[in-house]
Amino acid sequence: MSLILAIETSCDETAVAVLRGEGELLASEVASQIDLHTLYGGVVPEAASRQHLRELPPLLDHTLAKAGVELREVDAFAATSGPGLASSLMIGAAVAKGLALGQGKPYLGVNHLEGHLLSPFFGDERGLRPATGLVVSGGHTLLVDVAGFRQYRRLGGTLDDAAGEAFDKVGKLLGLSYPGGPQIDRLAREGDPARFDLPRSMLGSGDFAFSFSGLKTAVRYLLPKIGLEPGGGDMDGPLLADVCASFQRAVVDVLVKKTLRAARVSRRDLVAVSGGVSMNTGLRAEFARACAAAGLELLISPPALCTDNAAMIAAVGARAFAAGLTTPLSEDINPNLTLAFAS
Ligand code: KG4
Ligand code: ZN
Repeated sequence: MSLILAIETSCDETAVAVLRGEGELLASEVASQIDLHTLYGGVVPEAASRQHLRELPPLLDHTLAKAGVELREVDAFAATSGPGLASSLMIGAAVAKGLALGQGKPYLGVNHLEGHLLSPFFGDERGLRPATGLVVSGGHTLLVDVAGFRQYRRLGGTLDDAAGEAFDKVGKLLGLSYPGGPQIDRLAREGDPARFDLPRSMLGSGDFAFSFSGLKTAVRYLLPKIGLEPGGGDMDGPLLADVCASFQRAVVDVLVKKTLRAARVSRRDLVAVSGGVSMNTGLRAEFARACAAAGLELLISPPALCTDNAAMIAAVGARAFAAGLTTPLSEDINPNLTLAFAS
């Protein structure tokens, strides 16, 4: 069975994982930069890349030790090659290539979106199978028809803000620290989702496009009307919880309805949801309810694989390695990489 070491540095998490075969995770470690970026209210690319450079060498040692694996035992070295921040991607890819060269083993450049997309299948004994995939993260909102490995057809995506970006921007408006997503999730549990009627943009558009910037603007205009100052920082209590619950319900409504329609149109009976926003408890509950009602099977990434991690990169790397699809060292990172495999 192959041993894959994977590195993920596409944005603000430095992550390393070691995977045996396609499903036995020996170690998966993440050095989060959230505290650093909370200081600035968002990700600062220069700071992120310097932090990757600092964190990666000790994290590599630590992850290998935790996995009980020596560098020379690794069969291939994988890294996220895009999409993401150029200065961050560069660090992980350069280190993985250096290790591959030094050890005389292949390099595997992995698409970050493919990592998210296939993560719901991780550890599922029935393996990868046809599905309607939804990737919802800080950078992407993407509906994909999955026919098999490397057989993906893009059905639609966001025209403006990604779902996680909308959570984080609304979080900022509500005076919450970065990233707003997890905090809105927590506050929404105490709130009334029917209290404020917020727009469900493009719900009836007949396609699979999303738009979340109008929803963010609607929250901005709502706040002064209910006596809250945007970005105020001193908001508290039931009113804030109701805004969070109403906003979250609007995002979740659109994501669930469009995904289920995509499954119906593509004649898939399995829905696979992934990405940082799939951590959201309201989203997980509504997908479970709606899929059960529609007779669809649902796979959502395990929580440890929702936000950025290297295990999902290792899992794609292992599939590619098994299929003999290694990457030449001359292949560069691509900050604008898309899911370009066609079915
Ligand atoms: O997948 P990810 O770690 O990074 C990207 O590839 O973008 O996703 C990060 C995003 C952030 O926008 C964060 O606010 C959001 O995922 N997120 C959540 C929750 N946990 C993380 N959004 C809503 N509810 C959550 N519980
Ligand atoms: Zn991601």
